[in-house]
Amino acid sequence: MSTIAVVGAQWGDEGKGKAIDYLATKADYVVRAQGGSNAGHSVVIDGKKYALHLIPSGILNPDAKNIIGNGVVFDPEIFFEEIEGLEKDGINTDNIYISDRVHIVFPYHKILDGLTEKAKGSKKVGTTNKGIGPCYMDKMARTGIRACDMLEPELFKAKLEEQIDSKNDVITKIYGEEPLDKEAIVKEYLDYAERLAARITDTSVMLNEALERGDKILFEGAQGAMLDIDLGTYPYVTSSHPVSGGFAAGAGISPRCLDEIIGIVKAYTTRVGAGPFVSEEDNETGDKIREIGHEYGVTTGRPRRCGWLDLVQLKYSARINGLTGISLMLLDVLDQFETVKVCVGYDHNGETVKNFPASLNYLEECKPVYKEFKGWNTPLTECRNYSDLPVEAKEYIEFIEEYTGVPVKIVSVGPDRTQTMVRAEFFK
Ligand code: GDP
Ligand code: IMO
Ligand code: MG
Repeated sequence: MSTIAVVGAQWGDEGKGKAIDYLATKADYVVRAQGGSNAGHSVVIDGKKYALHLIPSGILNPDAKNIIGNGVVFDPEIFFEEIEGLEKDGINTDNIYISDRVHIVFPYHKILDGLTEKAKGSKKVGTTNKGIGPCYMDKMARTGIRACDMLEPELFKAKLEEQIDSKNDVITKIYGEEPLDKEAIVKEYLDYAERLAARITDTSVMLNEALERGDKILFEGAQGAMLDIDLGTYPYVTSSHPVSGGFAAGAGISPRCLDEIIGIVKAYTTRVGAGPFVSEEDNETGDKIREIGHEYGVTTGRPRRCGWLDLVQLKYSARINGLTGISLMLLDVLDQFETVKVCVGYDHNGETVKNFPASLNYLEECKPVYKEFKGWNTPLTECRNYSDLPVEAKEYIEFIEEYTGVPVKIVSVGPDRTQTMVRAEFFK
């Protein structure tokens, strides 16, 4: 096995950063293929917490090369902020390569993200305000500007000026706001272009050469399957493909290259931003999960909505991602519950719903059907082997495997690298 894809199997924030950092210790390459700085991946090493947004979480492993694939929307301002932070912590950031096909996020994308959300009022998506949707809109409208354009400064300047004029029309005429300062933006971005030039390359060629050599490649998903633009709870989704299918187009590799697809799953469910959430506990139970799990966004600081594990959703996610394994995260957060519930079905006006529905109206009418488990009521944070786990925790895990048909290959009982139990061999 030379490739592993890691995907968020729920609504994001499942603990991908920790799992990726763990798996990256053996990887030659770590690759992002979609999303952008909307991601917030936390990694804890020896008690020190790192928050990664645009830079792959493999950066904390000095031997891995980090690739920002063509499917990513790339924000140079955030990139350099992250680089500065990492270098202050003594992390070497030389090993980062950026696809010449990434689309660039500009200030007008961020402004328009805020303005469109405001205009939606109560129907707002609750985006991260990082300009992700508007940048992907330009990409799809075939008016976007890519990293390869940055390597041709005259052309880049002309394209950027044209875009700023066009976006200023929208900002002033539709939203009645002040126009952006064209000259200042062009100057700032020409400077970024110069500083990025050495890192911009055809990363698809790099990756395919690495695949031919049999190098070990870890694909790092951002967001989660339920935020996928096609397969998630549309329109309360992000604008990219966080499902495993997104890696091929987003990194310029064949879909046949993914050997293992690991779904990162929280032992419960959270969601940040608006949209339906059948197993939500908007009550004391949800508050207890939030406080114990420190469920506040890494990118926006917003409190996350919390609820029980939803196996109807997870089974759907296993199907659309083709999961070969689950990494079950934050199991320790359930240490202090007498009873642990799991959603095993949706009830829609007396009928049992088998497959995750497309219609949000329909989904909002669904009520969770729960199976209850006796809580283990003991701290798991010191467990290092599966056999150390109390029987109640094992029953919970084995039920997840049985329901989804996917083996739980990693169990995580704390944020630190060491608080990890592995039940399979990766990167043999
Ligand atoms: P990501 O976006 O999927 O990378 O997840 P986030 O980093 O946004 O959120 C996950 C949070 O859970 C972070 O604060 C992690 O440090 C933390 N975390 C990860 N695994 C565990 C675990 O097993 N137990 C606990 N208590 N925290 C964990
Ligand atoms: P990681 O990689 C959780 C959510 C936002 C919003 C919706 C659209 O840390 O798991 P966007 O800014 O992408 O247009 O927002 O998607 N969202 C995330 N939720 N984790 C993330 O990333 C997210 N990235 C975007 O809250 O509901
Ligand atoms: Mg996150």
